[in-house]
Amino acid sequence: MAEKPVFEAEFTQGLESFARQELKKAGAKFVDTGDSPAGVVRFKFGKSLTRLENLRVVNQLFQIHRFNVPRPKALLGQQHFDRLISLLAEQVKSMGHHNVQSFRLEAAGKDSAVFQRLIAQIEQRLKLPYDPDGGDLFIRFKPATGKQKGWELLVRPSVRPLAVRSWREFNYPGALSAPIAAVMLQMANIQPDDKVLNVMCGSATFQAESEIGGSVWANSDLNVVALNGARVNLKAAGKAAQLQQADSTALPYKGSSFDVIFSDLPWGQLIGESTDMTELYAQTLRECGRVAKSGARLLIITQLKKRFLDALSDTSWELNQTIHLTHDKVTPAVYVLTH
Ligand SMILES: C[S@@+](CC[C@H](N)C(=O)[O-])C[C@H]1O[C@@H](n2cnc3c(N)ncnc32)[C@H](O)[C@@H]1O
Repeated sequence: MAEKPVFEAEFTQGLESFARQELKKAGAKFVDTGDSPAGVVRFKFGKSLTRLENLRVVNQLFQIHRFNVPRPKALLGQQHFDRLISLLAEQVKSMGHHNVQSFRLEAAGKDSAVFQRLIAQIEQRLKLPYDPDGGDLFIRFKPATGKQKGWELLVRPSVRPLAVRSWREFNYPGALSAPIAAVMLQMANIQPDDKVLNVMCGSATFQAESEIGGSVWANSDLNVVALNGARVNLKAAGKAAQLQQADSTALPYKGSSFDVIFSDLPWGQLIGESTDMTELYAQTLRECGRVAKSGARLLIITQLKKRFLDALSDTSWELNQTIHLTHDKVTPAVYVLTH
């Protein structure tokens, strides 16, 4: 029987249990390499690849092909190079030639003469220009992991990472990663008749990413540019947009209105040095407490963890769960609270 393809999934560090859960549900059989870095898991997959297209927590996937070569130079030998080209050509075909206009390559030592030759030869044989930053076909080379010998070719089966959602037509600086939002939505356990609020909503990532039909959402932010972008994203996501320009410390909603509240609190860079963040957080948490129903859930993500915890001590919110993340070199935390 043919060996099942092996894939590598990358996810935000801290979300491993969520990533593994969705992969397992899709049919993944995990491969323990013994030395996987944090935020990465490998698995065998024998089912239709379309089942991997809708993963929401995984940031990106690569299919792995092992080459029995002692060093990258040997990839230029005819037998290995022919196999490499045939794998890449097959990949381009399955992604659609019109979608793949260029390729990019990542490898330690990518600037070495050997990799530069490899790049030139791939360009020539595939008739595909090399674009180191934005190449559509994304390939990596690295030494085989664990007990395996040789080198691995990793090929991303999609032009965009899975984390890039089609609804995100407006790219707001500082927008929340959709996979992190997907996990927070899962943790919120939204019910179909819940009323949901996103305070400091920015480009409305939470509602756009939400999959629970029937829930009614409100979104508010001070920034009009963000609200206009939120309208664009919600339209692209096929969601009704209820957007209010409002200060999070004085929300335009009646008391005890919402079952679930989300906030991706500002970190300070974009709203000016003069703002006292602890005070802004404290007032926002108190205002969220006013508009929350008894028993409501509040899900917060912030980089300013100490300020948030200091602000929390003076409110009616009870902290139930904390998840520490490492994402794009920053280390925010997700907090789940109840009222
Ligand atoms: C980290 S961004 C939110 C990004 C959003 N989650 C997204 O995915 O686009 C924080 C937001 O807080 C908003 N903000 C800052 N101070 C505010 C205040 N006092 N009241 C309401 N919104 C505020 C900013 O305009 C910004 O959009």
